[in-house]
Amino acid sequence: MSTPHEIVVLGGNFAGIGLVHYLFKITIPSLQKLDPAKTFHITLVTPNTDLFFKIGSPRALINDKQIPESKILRPLSEGLSKYKPEQLTLAQALATSLDASKRTVTITPVGSETTKDLPYDSLFIATGTTSASPLWTFHPDPSLTSTALKALHTSLPTAKTVLIAGGGAVGIETAGEIAHFYPSAKITLLSGAAQLLPNSPPVLGPRAQSYLETHAKVEVIHNLRVEASDLSATGATVTLSDGSTKTTDLYIDATGGKANTGFLKADWLDGTKRVLTRDAYFRVKGNGSDDVEGVYVLGDVTAGSANTAMVLDAQTPTVASAFAVDFARKAIGVEAGEKKNPGLLGGLVGLVFGKKAAAPSLVEFKPMKDTMLVPVGPGGGVGLIMGWRFPSFLVAKVKGKNFLLELVDPLLTGDKWKA
Ligand SMILES: Cc1cc2nc3c(=O)[nH]c(=O)nc-3n(C[C@H](O)[C@H](O)[C@H](O)COP(=O)(O)OP(=O)(O)OC[C@H]3O[C@@H](n4cnc5c(N)ncnc54)[C@H](O)[C@@H]3O)c2cc1C
Ligand SMILES: *[C@@H]1O[C@H](CO)[C@@H](O)[C@H](O)[C@H]1NC(C)=O
Repeated sequence: MSTPHEIVVLGGNFAGIGLVHYLFKITIPSLQKLDPAKTFHITLVTPNTDLFFKIGSPRALINDKQIPESKILRPLSEGLSKYKPEQLTLAQALATSLDASKRTVTITPVGSETTKDLPYDSLFIATGTTSASPLWTFHPDPSLTSTALKALHTSLPTAKTVLIAGGGAVGIETAGEIAHFYPSAKITLLSGAAQLLPNSPPVLGPRAQSYLETHAKVEVIHNLRVEASDLSATGATVTLSDGSTKTTDLYIDATGGKANTGFLKADWLDGTKRVLTRDAYFRVKGNGSDDVEGVYVLGDVTAGSANTAMVLDAQTPTVASAFAVDFARKAIGVEAGEKKNPGLLGGLVGLVFGKKAAAPSLVEFKPMKDTMLVPVGPGGGVGLIMGWRFPSFLVAKVKGKNFLLELVDPLLTGDKWKA
């Protein structure tokens, strides 16, 4: 057996976990049909040992009954233990630097200061973002997410005033949940922009605002940002962008996250510090002269990303196809989509597997556009499906009732991908 082709995946949540399963289930078997002698090993580098289904956070933060923590924080081992050590290694670590010329990534194991250099033949960057609050993304210490959920379970029942910063879906959903489960709390939402949902089709923000005001009695304020917050035992005092201060029993930061790319050079990144791509198949651009052969990016850390989990249904097959095409060209010597004379080896493969193995082809990236569901409490909300208005009762039915928890198992186990 030849030395395995080493694939390093950085980041193990929606994008990274989905990709690992896709590679094992779809991509690697298709490459081995082309050349059965090729073997592959994946190292997944991530600080967390659980999958964090953060889509459920706005309801899980209410109490431990609506959505128990164990439903949104699920051991990765439940989905990954089926892979043998010669297939997959889980490194509980953070990527801390990358040497493109040596083709190594330096990792720092959680709770350790000793770094380790991992060589890669192919590299996938899927490190996502980190939000100020660990309610919405893992922090370098992943246990802070559970701590933050529990802290709200304790403080919400007695909070008379709640201030939420962030006019995106997360802030809106959180305001809606708290309003529903704690109807006597006075809730204020600071959009920080001229309207809610500023990055979505412009019809949606005003609809979300009127839903929040009429159904949830949430006060929405625009064009004011929280500049600083001072937490005390009895509440919080925040300083706003107009210089004023506001005190509140509870302050929740629901503003967006920062891309986790501190281990990469700035000349690989865009203005939001997301990773630049050189084509529509998510091959990393680099800086023009660094070696970026076999380096790919996916998920929220991708430049121009829609920052949704949904987009990964389209992006994962596309980025995996780029890897397959690059591998087939370099290691097997066949061009994309080639169906040439199978030759002796290919002929044998055909005999063994009963059909002619075709070289992999690039898969076009075709995400579903202008689609989002923003529940405001369990009973309704606002949404768009491919730009069309989605009625409130359907928002409740599809997402508000259960926060898409039915997607956790297929993601964790890889069952979402059909071979
Ligand atoms: C409250 C909420 C509701 C949402 N609702 C929806 C929805 O309804 N529909 C939808 O499509 N999307 C939704 N999203 C968005 C969706 O969750 C994200 O798009 C998705 O999580 C992105 O996945 P990712 O793997 O790219 O990033 P993440 O999920 O952020 O994962 C990144 C991973 O990388 C790890 N990591 C970070 N730094 C490093 C490092 N240096 N080295 C190694 N590993 C590292 C992290 O620990 C983490 O495991 C929602 C998000 C939130 C917060
Ligand atoms: C890219 O980065 C490398 C290493 O830092 C540097 O040597 C090179 O000059 C850079 N190339 C360009 C085009 O900026």
